[in-house]
Amino acid sequence: MDPFQNSDLQRRKFLEWIGLSGLALAFPAISLSGCQSSRFHEDEKQEFKNVFDLEGLSEKVMGKDAIDYLNGGADDSKTVKANVVAYQKIQIRARRLIDVSTISTKVELFGQTYETPIILSPVGFQKFFHQDGEVATAKASVKKQHQMIVSSVSNYSVNEIAAQSQADLWFQLYPTTNREVTKKLLERAEKAGCKVCVLTVDTPVIGNRERGGTTLTKLIYSKELKMGNYEGILTEGTGIDDPGLTWEIISWLRANCDMKIVLKGIVTREDATLALEYGVDGIIVSNHGGRQLESLRSTIECLPEIVEEIKGRIPVLIDGGIRRGTDIFKALAIGANAVCIGRPFCWGLGALGQEGVEIALDILKAELIRDMQLAGTPSIEKITCDFVIGF
Ligand SMILES: Cc1cc2nc3c(=O)[nH]c(=O)nc-3n(C[C@H](O)[C@H](O)[C@H](O)COP(=O)(O)O)c2cc1C
Repeated sequence: MDPFQNSDLQRRKFLEWIGLSGLALAFPAISLSGCQSSRFHEDEKQEFKNVFDLEGLSEKVMGKDAIDYLNGGADDSKTVKANVVAYQKIQIRARRLIDVSTISTKVELFGQTYETPIILSPVGFQKFFHQDGEVATAKASVKKQHQMIVSSVSNYSVNEIAAQSQADLWFQLYPTTNREVTKKLLERAEKAGCKVCVLTVDTPVIGNRERGGTTLTKLIYSKELKMGNYEGILTEGTGIDDPGLTWEIISWLRANCDMKIVLKGIVTREDATLALEYGVDGIIVSNHGGRQLESLRSTIECLPEIVEEIKGRIPVLIDGGIRRGTDIFKALAIGANAVCIGRPFCWGLGALGQEGVEIALDILKAELIRDMQLAGTPSIEKITCDFVIGF
């Protein structure tokens, strides 16, 4: 297949998926470098006290459209805000006179030990934030020992990311409408060494995002941003995601890959029950960072009924609105086995590339450790629901 034609096809498919294919034809070509690093000077480097300091710098560096795309949500962004605000209602019950001179943040997931429970959520199109995109994120995740999940719609392919960073990656899957193409995506991920497939189930269609899409569309149209995973495998008539998807996909995935299967996007007790019945290996309580269906509950409000249903039989992870060590502490206390973060590491990426992602991860881990010391919980297992109130 002609690679040039195929990359045209990818662009067109993505634009169709986000509902902008017609518009794109009217855009003049623009370049990625024209959108980045416009107003940043070395002397603006500062001490970053929290992830919001990185957000502040990313706003200066990335420009309005990229920051709108990153921070925006569906409709009026009510769910984006709800994810953050809900953590503020929960309070911590600290215990005293416990030896907290040594803290372990290790957790076990899918038979493997991880240094920290803080995982990088799949985020598509990271080159929009920084030219090194997912490769910079992966290098930071390796250096700081955090697990990274690569999006189906990453700009670098999962193979390029693995090769350039030596990271053990998890792969996030949007199953296409053509199972042969989906199979090839899975083969790529397995070839890149991925042992976990994160199946996103909250995206039968794209949510109504009203901000930030225009520049992204222009960049795709101008061939500045490619979708690495689909190179050479996308066919005419194949949709990037499948609105016809049902629970049948789980047995199909089992038959077609050896990766652990984790469902991302579960927000109800009923679907947690079905996830167990269909034999998935884990779930991520997620509302896509408020980018899909507006007016969903915050994820931390969904967590209790899901934890109650799962009863420790498979790992339950959560993402959405986690900005502080105390948020991580609260999610773990309510029963999450690990947490994922999206925008905070992207603020770091947009602000300073790999170094910025490292800073974001350092900040969140340091906050979690200090909060564990202050609450009297020297290890993750010690953080139980007795340590929180108000959820
Ligand atoms: C810019 C952006 C792109 C995203 N792309 C994807 C994606 O490709 N696949 C996916 O499953 N989730 C995607 N998400 C959702 C994240 O994986 C995650 O659920 C969300 O960002 C968590 O919320 P937080 O940003 O408040 O931490 C994206 C989120 C953002 C902000």
